[in-house]
Formats: sequence, structure tokens, C-alpha cells
Amino acid sequence: MINVVGLGYIGLPTALMFAAHGVEVVGTDYNKGLVDTLRSGKPTFEEDGLDELFNEAVKKGIRFSHEYQSTDMYIIAVPTPYDKASKKVDASYVAEAVKDVMEVCPKGATVVVESTVSPGTINKYVRPVVEERGFVIGEDINLVHAPERIIPGNMVYELKHNSRTIGADSREIGEKVKALYSSFCEGEIVVTDIRTAEMTKVVENTFRDINIAFANELAKICRSDNMDVYEIIRIANKHPRVNILTPGPGVGGHCISVDPWFLVGDYPGLSNIILAARKINDSMPDFVLERIHNIMKENGMTDVGRVGLYGLTYKENVDDTRESPTLQMLESMERHLCGGQIKVYDPYVTRDLVPNQYHDLDSFIHDVDMVVLLVGHDEIKEHMDELKGKVVLDTRHICFLDGVYRL
Ligand SMILES: NC(=O)c1ccc[n+]([C@@H]2O[C@H](COP(=O)([O-])OP(=O)(O)OC[C@H]3O[C@@H](n4cnc5c(N)ncnc54)[C@H](O)[C@@H]3O)[C@@H](O)[C@H]2O)c1
Repeated sequence: MINVVGLGYIGLPTALMFAAHGVEVVGTDYNKGLVDTLRSGKPTFEEDGLDELFNEAVKKGIRFSHEYQSTDMYIIAVPTPYDKASKKVDASYVAEAVKDVMEVCPKGATVVVESTVSPGTINKYVRPVVEERGFVIGEDINLVHAPERIIPGNMVYELKHNSRTIGADSREIGEKVKALYSSFCEGEIVVTDIRTAEMTKVVENTFRDINIAFANELAKICRSDNMDVYEIIRIANKHPRVNILTPGPGVGGHCISVDPWFLVGDYPGLSNIILAARKINDSMPDFVLERIHNIMKENGMTDVGRVGLYGLTYKENVDDTRESPTLQMLESMERHLCGGQIKVYDPYVTRDLVPNQYHDLDSFIHDVDMVVLLVGHDEIKEHMDELKGKVVLDTRHICFLDGVYRL
């Protein structure tokens, strides 16, 4: 039996996937409300294919609990934010979860950390927790790191088809855990050591952050000298070895905007491009605010209450708002004492999250003169004509109406 600890965006689909493929699973989360929702037969977030996977897992007998189970296999999928001051990984959730597991696990158990961590985290924060309990690692308890690569919006497909990495102290344990993941994973599973697995995961997200930053920096350069960045990228990408990404309003989510900081925190002085990329991407929400300000001026608008932000999530067609560029913009407005009036709408965010939040597209559009497209949800792509007659700032390159403003 596997006990999956942490039933959020990563732990829940992983637990469901194992269960749907015939593995006995108990999912544990210390958030009792979340466990109650799952027990009542509902997944806790929206995701393509998740409802079907949930029903299949329930049919196969998955259970949900707020208690840690006594078993021989644990998967830890708890948050790993970064410490805003030191920029280093905050491994406290992982360490706490492993500590709790150590209270109930028998000798011989394997603990797989799926949470993203910086290289050396398991050595520094997890091994001591196991040893303090009197266990000998490699004899009584095996430690494994199996980072996750799935992308919100396509999680169920990617869980099945992505390649994975398993980092273990010994080949034997690595192969054992690989066999377990092979119950549902059809992608290649590479077995390596723990530090290599830790570093590889962080490197993957850092690569993506740097590439996004390059596109965003080009947008700023082109804006400063009146060039069309999209046309330049379109032409440059015809070069067989060039593939520049599309600029955007910033980087959000729990991964790309967080993980590169781990390297900056651990290797200051060596992580120069990484730090520059983080700073560029973090500057984009303010750059959008400046664009809004200039476009309002150009159109003789003075009332920010007639401006509407479309999109609160950090990417299209998901309900995850963590670290989203829109939230970063709203915070920045608060700091500059001009918050509180701008209107906001997102079809995926049904709970009230920010002031002046709308819950239907028509009234949102009706009540504003200017719309800032911050997320390319399918909904707005299908209703683009409704923006005719409005001032539109498109930060995602999805609107092709006459007179649209861009980054
Ligand atoms: N979300 C993504 O797209 C994504 C992708 C790849 C990797 N990751 C990594 O996966 C890890 C988990 O991320 P997430 O997005 O699923 O986080 P999340 O916040 O959605 O879920 C974490 C869950 O863990 C629970 N939890 C925390 N400590 C616990 C404990 N001690 N015992 C029991 N439950 C506990 C919380 O209540 C929460 O429900 C992070 O390290 C993240 O970087 C996330």
C-alpha cells in the first residue's frame, strides 16, 4: 500500500493515478476540509480528465484520511516555497511531513519525496529527521527523490506519458520505485542518484524561466524603440536553430517563478543569468502597469475604475492563481496606493479573491472601457468580438482586433 502525503495539485492526481492502475492507495492531507471534500466524492480542483480519473480511483478503492498510515511506501508531495529573504528552498514542509511519517512507519519502508527541492536538500533536511528517529538510512528506511514534471492543464495526460527521474541511494531501491511508477507511467524512467535528481528538476524549470525572460526582455527593448517584438520573433524563429518564446505579463505558478530562486540562494555569485532572468520576469507586472497608464493617457482616460483585468490565474484554462502576474499587479497597485478600483474577472476563479471581482464576462465587459488581457483562457478567445469598441491591451498575443495595444 502507498500512503501519498499531501493531496494538492501534485499529490492528488498522483494518488489517483496509482489507485486507478490497481495499486492500493491511502491519500493523507492534514487539511481536514480538503479530505472531507475528497471523501464526499469530489476532486478539489478542475483539471482535464481529473473527474474521470477520480471516479476510477474511487471504484478501485482509494481512501482519503488526515492520518498518516503505517505502510512500506510513502510519497511526499507537500509544498516547497522559497524563503523570500535568503532565496533558499523552504524545506520545512517536507521535513515536517517526513517527521510525521517516521512516527508511524515500520522498518523497511521507502520514503519517496516528490516535492521539488534544491540539490542537497534531502541530505541537509530529510536525512537528519530519519536518523533522529534512530533509523539507519539504507537499512531501516530508504530515501528516494522522484520529482514531478506535469503541467497544470494537461496533468492527467502528462502523468502517464512524461519521462520521469528517480534518484535513489542504491540502484536496487531506484529500480524498485521505478517498477512502482511503471504501473501507470509509459514514459522513460531514468534512475540516478538523489542529488542529480534534485538538481535536474530545478534546472528544468530554470531553463524555462530564462527562455521566458529573454522574450520578455526583447519586448521591453522593442517597446522602448518602437519595434514590433512579435513580428521580430516570428521572423527570427524561421532560423532553423532559433525558437524564441512569446513575451507575456510575467511568470506565476508554484514552479517556474519559485525554483530558480533555489539556485540563486544556494549559489550566489555563480547564478548570474538565473538571477537576471528572475528579475526580468518579476518586473513584467510593473511593466504592464506602466503600459496601462500610458495607454489610458493616450486615450484620455483618467478613471482606473473603467479598466478591467481579464484573468487572475497564472496560465490559461486552469484555476491556479498562485504567484499569478495579475495578483502581482494588484499588489503593486496597492503599494502605490492606486489599488481597489480596477475591475477583475476570471471564469476559472469563482471564489471572491480580490476587490471588484466579476463573475460573468458580459457584465465585466459592460462595465469597463479598457480591457487588459492577462490570461489566454479559451473563453475570451471565443468571445473576442465582444471587445470591439473597447481599448484593448493584449499581453498574450491572442487578440487581433483593429487598434489592439500590445506589450
Ligand atoms: N503544481 C505544480 O504544477 C507542480 C508541478 C511539479 C512539481 N510541483 C511540486 O510539487 C510539490 C507540491 O506542490 P503542489 O502544487 O501539489 O502543492 P499544494 O499546495 O497544491 O499541495 C500541497 C498539499 O500538502 C498538504 N500538506 C502540507 N504539509 C503536509 C503534511 N505535513 N502532512 C499532510 N499534508 C500536508 C497541504 O495541505 C496541501 O494540500 C511542490 O514541491 C511543487 O514545487 C508542483
